[in-house]
Amino acid sequence: MCGIVGYIGAKEKKEILLDGLQELEYRGYDSAGIAIIEGEKLSNFKAIGKLENLRHKTEAYHSEGFGISIGHTRWATHGKPTELNAHPHLGAYSYVVHNGIIENYQELKEELQADGVTFLSQTDTETIVHVFEKFNNQINNPFEAFEKTIEKLHGAYATLLITEAAPDTIFFAKNGSPMLIGFDGEDVYFASSDTPIIGKANEVYYLEDGEYGFVKEGKVFLFNAEGKKSFTKQALTADKVSAQKDGYRFFMEKEIYEQSYVMTETMMGRVHDDSILFDELDENFFDGISAIKICACGTSYHSALASAYLFERLAKVRCDVEIASEFRYKEPLLTKDTLFITISQSGETADTLEALKMAKRAGLRSLSICNVDNSSIVRESDAAILTRAGIEKGVASTKAFATQTMVLWMLALYVGQEKKTLASDILKTEVAAMLKTPKSLVVEEKLHAQLTRMSKRYLHGHGFFFIGRDIFFPLALEGALKLKEISYFHAEGYPAGEMKHGPIALADSTLFTIALMPKSMHYDKIKSNVEELSARDATILAISPEPFELADDFIQTKYDSHPMLEYFEMMVVTQLLALEISVRLGNDVDMPRNLAKSVTVE
Ligand code: M6R
Repeated sequence: MCGIVGYIGAKEKKEILLDGLQELEYRGYDSAGIAIIEGEKLSNFKAIGKLENLRHKTEAYHSEGFGISIGHTRWATHGKPTELNAHPHLGAYSYVVHNGIIENYQELKEELQADGVTFLSQTDTETIVHVFEKFNNQINNPFEAFEKTIEKLHGAYATLLITEAAPDTIFFAKNGSPMLIGFDGEDVYFASSDTPIIGKANEVYYLEDGEYGFVKEGKVFLFNAEGKKSFTKQALTADKVSAQKDGYRFFMEKEIYEQSYVMTETMMGRVHDDSILFDELDENFFDGISAIKICACGTSYHSALASAYLFERLAKVRCDVEIASEFRYKEPLLTKDTLFITISQSGETADTLEALKMAKRAGLRSLSICNVDNSSIVRESDAAILTRAGIEKGVASTKAFATQTMVLWMLALYVGQEKKTLASDILKTEVAAMLKTPKSLVVEEKLHAQLTRMSKRYLHGHGFFFIGRDIFFPLALEGALKLKEISYFHAEGYPAGEMKHGPIALADSTLFTIALMPKSMHYDKIKSNVEELSARDATILAISPEPFELADDFIQTKYDSHPMLEYFEMMVVTQLLALEISVRLGNDVDMPRNLAKSVTVE
């Protein structure tokens, strides 16, 4: 959610900033901006919409010689996506970029306005630059002014500030939103994740919450509440696995097609003929654990919900799942025999990260399942299992969800194996099915073409219900979320057996029901539920290996012997359906409106 870059050095700054922002654009694309100070020369550009608009605006500009520079790509939180609300925000002689939310900005703003300060934007961020200048005008010491400024801020932030009062220095602070510093000799980079600086910097330091400081003449001066502190840099990979579309129309499409391959990566070295191994977990990791609690948001929450069935059914361990934003404020009762699992594609989701911190404060052992190594959630957890999905650029998550589900399935088997609650013949059957998963995820041209044709019949109506039972209920939730995110149609996931308890009142010919009807799990039950809907004239798209005569549309799946194989195969169908509906509607598939890839605000 929003992206920050910064650079101090003698290289051409505009290109460094724009290239960095390009890598972060999927995190927010309401507007973008850069500010550069070179000696006496100050340049600032902003543009609403995609980064290409900013590129266009800065075509004639080139930076020369030593300078300091900051850039930002925005996902609007306070104030509309306008140029005035775009970062960097300007004071009288300083610029600031910020990710996160300043919770007390209203109070700060009122104080400043009482002093005669005029605000140009509706953002919380603008208060930072004015508070800074207020202090600096009083004490004429930019670092002390910056230090006093961040003391005043409540909430989550990662921020960079440059000022004509110190034209050779970048000031930085991090609390609750990610930020790192990259190094290449005298050149110093900042970014809110490592992708913008891979290939530029060779070493990195991931800032911790509460750290702040400044960079001058290639040196970083780092502080926290205890005062000045030293830090250790770590090597940064030089491998830029920059996600390209490789001939696909959209990143999301490419990522759907990649699922088969990445699943093999996810299993590599972990799935053996009659056992599951996780090098990441030491052998005593589950000692004393008799329950599991999982917290996550959005799609990650759906993978968690599916896994709760597996933990209880396969590992015989009690498992409950909570939406992280709800968990945070419910004053949950936590006991130390509970393993606290967080699931996150990005590893930066604010609500999930805060839930994890709460669990840690309560003394719970923690495990994260994440796609991004070194992310905040991974670093905060006692142990982490990486999903190995590779960079996911489509805002609507696909392969990250698939690999999360796979890791959770493996983990359920692993827990059963370690606790000896899972019979070895069941383990073998599960592993045999698991090894077939990559095949179940292969997208066949014929299926894709069928869904492309079918999608034209689903461009109207008053809503979609995705229905399923057992693990297919969370899959229904996920199918509905995918469609909602990129088509902007109203879609809901429902447990099929619940329809008759209210939602069936909506049934008519323009209520589209996507029925997940696996053969290997409760087929007759869901069939009756779908028949009830069909009797009320709902339009039914059935997805099943078993032909279903009441279906208005039918997708015949191939797997019928193991629920997880049916699950993954049906998942692909729902993803492609959402994709093709979105394409027909002319929507931006990879960067749907109002969304961002990484939600680092609460
Ligand atoms: O990075 P996370 O997995 O923690 O993100 C959680 C949700 O924000 C995310 O899954 C969101 O729902 C996606 N847009 C789903 O497509």
